[in-house]
Amino acid sequence: MDWGLKSRMADIVRPEDGRAVMLAVDHGYFLGPTERLEDPAAAVGPLLEHCDSLMVTRGVLRNCVDAARRVPVVLRVSGGASIVGADLSDERITTSVKEAVRLNASAVAMSVFVGARHEHQTIAGLGRLVNEAEEYGIPVLAVTAVGKEMARDARYLSLACRIAAEQGARIVKTYYCEGFEKVAGSCPVPVIIAGGKKIPEADALRLAADAVAAGAAGVDMGRNIWQSDSPVPMIKAVRSIVHGGAGAGEAYSEHLGGPAA
Ligand code: R5P
Repeated sequence: MDWGLKSRMADIVRPEDGRAVMLAVDHGYFLGPTERLEDPAAAVGPLLEHCDSLMVTRGVLRNCVDAARRVPVVLRVSGGASIVGADLSDERITTSVKEAVRLNASAVAMSVFVGARHEHQTIAGLGRLVNEAEEYGIPVLAVTAVGKEMARDARYLSLACRIAAEQGARIVKTYYCEGFEKVAGSCPVPVIIAGGKKIPEADALRLAADAVAAGAAGVDMGRNIWQSDSPVPMIKAVRSIVHGGAGAGEAYSEHLGGPAA
């Protein structure tokens, strides 16, 4: 791995412990003004100091994130579909690697839709993005299993994550599932998990703790942080699990006040 790539990877997966707390706020690229992310600047500002990196589109980055805060950026560069459109898998690269360089991104991210209608387009697109981004020492994060084309079980998620890594993704984001050891254990690059739809805080913390115990390098969590009534305590709790080795109950009582429900 060359120096630039290694240095950017260290922005995302902390070298001290090999773990990552990525804050996901890229949802608007296909969901529009998602609940509690209507004003991204207000939602994201107080959370920035508690994440290792921020996953974001160029539009929100340019307009809603203070460049002086210097948070490592994982720039979503794919899009082209919406929640009200015909096919979520119909994504292409929409943001150039040149733009990622201009925006000082530490990584670029795109979705691959294994098993979906546009499987070929997105997997081949991942290979091309890796070719181009690595010319500039920029690692690619592949996002797997968005949408619900196939059951999100260990068999499917292992398949999707492994394919993404084989194409050259340096980090893979997926979902937690029963038997997650198989997903993490058969993927040669760090795997981080999305939080998914908002669930009670105690459950989301359990999800993070279970994922890390099963081999995840950390989280790329969005809605379970900024849709919480206590977003800052929530991200601190997640951080204490990922980086501090806290259990879910311990993290809940320390940051969210009292024993978990
Ligand atoms: C989904 O495609 C987006 O890329 C989100 O970044 C991802 O789902 C993680 O956010 P959440 O924890 O809200 O699921």
